[in-house]
Amino acid sequence: MKRREFLKIIAISSLLTLIKVNTLEAKKGGKKMPFTEYKAKNYKEIRPQLWNMDGISQKTMDEHIKLYEGYVSKYNEAMKLLENLSDDDYTKANPTYSTIRSIKVDITRAIGGIKNHELYFEHLGGKGGKPEGKLLEQIEKDFGNYERFLKELRATAMAARGWAWVSYDHNFKRLFIAIGDEQNTFPIWNSTPILGIDVFEHAYFIDYGTARAKYLDAFFQNLDWKAVEKNFESLKI
Ligand SMILES: [Fe+2]
Repeated sequence: MKRREFLKIIAISSLLTLIKVNTLEAKKGGKKMPFTEYKAKNYKEIRPQLWNMDGISQKTMDEHIKLYEGYVSKYNEAMKLLENLSDDDYTKANPTYSTIRSIKVDITRAIGGIKNHELYFEHLGGKGGKPEGKLLEQIEKDFGNYERFLKELRATAMAARGWAWVSYDHNFKRLFIAIGDEQNTFPIWNSTPILGIDVFEHAYFIDYGTARAKYLDAFFQNLDWKAVEKNFESLKI
């Protein structure tokens, strides 16, 4: 075989392979999406003080960690579903019911469940007290004084169905105390939460039954304000 004919055959067969691969990828919904599984943080290892708190029991923590790990596995599961969507799934996208709608809505609960709990666990296990430094200055600027801030935060936590957050709003350039009824409600764009209080019953029912106010006392007694200050200072505002 002449060299020219040989090269021609190679070129045609490469093209055919490319077409075949592309057709297969198209059937599967396009190119594979790069996705790395998220791993749940090991809080027993990185934050053992969570199992040594007055007012929030080890049993509560064990159960709470199980819920957090559940959000991580649901996030990974949802991402795998997105990775393997078929063309049929894409063309059947529909606002009443469709596979893509279901994944897109529910993955936000998993992502919220991960972020909210990591925020919460990483500032629990402290000694309470009061915020200091730049954070205290910002609180006083935005709320008048710390007592006024605390009053609004506690009342928001009593009024919430799931979460109360303190977040810095990058547009309004101030702190807000926000209410959350679910892991994924109510988001405010371009604001970063620096403090989160989980007020779902699973956070306190074992220890306090329905007495949420007593749990809030325990939460503030175990809050690590240094971690909250660090969250605020990392915003570099
Ligand atoms: Fe929780």
